[in-house]
Amino acid sequence: MYLHGTSKVNEKGHLEIGGMDTIELANKFGTPLYIYDVDLIRKRARGFKETFEQLGVKAQVAYASKAFSTVAMIQIVEQEGLSLDVVSGGELFTAMAADFPAERIHFHGNNKSREELEMALTHNVGCIVVDNFYELNLLQDIALSFEKKVKILLRVTPGIEAHTHDYILTGQEDSKFGFDLQNGQAEEALKISMESSCLDILGIHCHIGSQIFDTTGFILAAQKIFTKLYDWKTQLSYEPVVLNLGGGFGIRYTENDEPLPPSKYVSEIIKEVKIQAEEYGMEMPEIWIEPGRSLVGDSGTTIYKIGSSKDVPEVRKYLAIDGGMSDNIRPALYQANYEAVLANRVMEQPEETVSIAGKCCESGDMLIWDLPLPKADSDDLLAVFCTGAYGYSMANNYNRIPRPPVVFVEQGASTLVVRRETFEDMVRLDLPMNEKVKY
Ligand SMILES: Cc1ncc(COP(=O)(O)O)c(C=O)c1O
Repeated sequence: MYLHGTSKVNEKGHLEIGGMDTIELANKFGTPLYIYDVDLIRKRARGFKETFEQLGVKAQVAYASKAFSTVAMIQIVEQEGLSLDVVSGGELFTAMAADFPAERIHFHGNNKSREELEMALTHNVGCIVVDNFYELNLLQDIALSFEKKVKILLRVTPGIEAHTHDYILTGQEDSKFGFDLQNGQAEEALKISMESSCLDILGIHCHIGSQIFDTTGFILAAQKIFTKLYDWKTQLSYEPVVLNLGGGFGIRYTENDEPLPPSKYVSEIIKEVKIQAEEYGMEMPEIWIEPGRSLVGDSGTTIYKIGSSKDVPEVRKYLAIDGGMSDNIRPALYQANYEAVLANRVMEQPEETVSIAGKCCESGDMLIWDLPLPKADSDDLLAVFCTGAYGYSMANNYNRIPRPPVVFVEQGASTLVVRRETFEDMVRLDLPMNEKVKY
């Protein structure tokens, strides 16, 4: 059994996180319940940021808030001095509701609307990561009417795809995001941006994938980008101030995952960018990165109550929990794997192998297949580890199941930071039929 962050087993045999007994938290706040180990979030944030500081490299570590965006989370990001990446009006609104400094916000997205871009300019966000020609035109139009000069990065696709353990170099990049680096689109976008009186092009952005366990992909991406940057330096006299290499740093969901510590990802990226800058006789750019999952993933644990069970003799035993794909869609969406224990009997030895079913009306609503557990009864509590990223943020109301609350724990104290949805919330936006209309 692998325990993350401040998680430990207390004298009652209960899982404890941040000095709080998870059984007591479940009794107080109900289940399902997302619990976040705030100390671990801070540790991860510092792991990235301090490595840049120690190595004396100008940088911004921007938390990719899509992983988990709530006001309290954004407040932690601000306390830790990170920047913030948002991809929609809703994420930007959340950041503003948390009083996050707008100049440290980077606005992403492959189809930002006019309203979203206007919102970004109204709030004076630090930088817009421009994704395509449509946006380039739209943004100039809006910037002119706002009489503002807007800082931008151009998102490029360098022709590298990270498939977790290996990297595919694709000649023809097939992605909905960004300007292609190889076929001239990125250069075209750069020329338009350089000629524009209302755009200030800070540099280049790329993001090669997620759950990446080594540094090869980042190094390949940096090399490909620098080859192009050298062309642009010699032909267009353009040198970037910023190189943003995105997020995607892996975390340990199960024993099969072997991520590097944040400091290792950062130091290797810095090393390569320095090599490339020196080789091409260019200024060392500021390095920006965008960790999402690696800041919050292993900080989150979901506590469920076990209910019904079903034995299929000689085949398998199903244990059903009081949540499922409505609070964690990742297993159904892309076969994500998780580890789990009985939160109230952590030290007991596994006696059987069970499969954990959600309560939604979908056969695919299975949370974990083939999990070794002690013999569990209804009302035992299951703790599923590493649910902090893309769990709550992708949660939904399928079957009109209210979304669970979120509790932050730190140094023996707990704070409810998102309340549990109620049945009233399920119909809050519904409007009755107009009785006058006859069908
Ligand atoms: C542009 C960009 N940056 C950062 C991230 C964060 O990735 P991760 O959570 O894997 O670190 C993503 C994820 O989709 C992304 O698209």
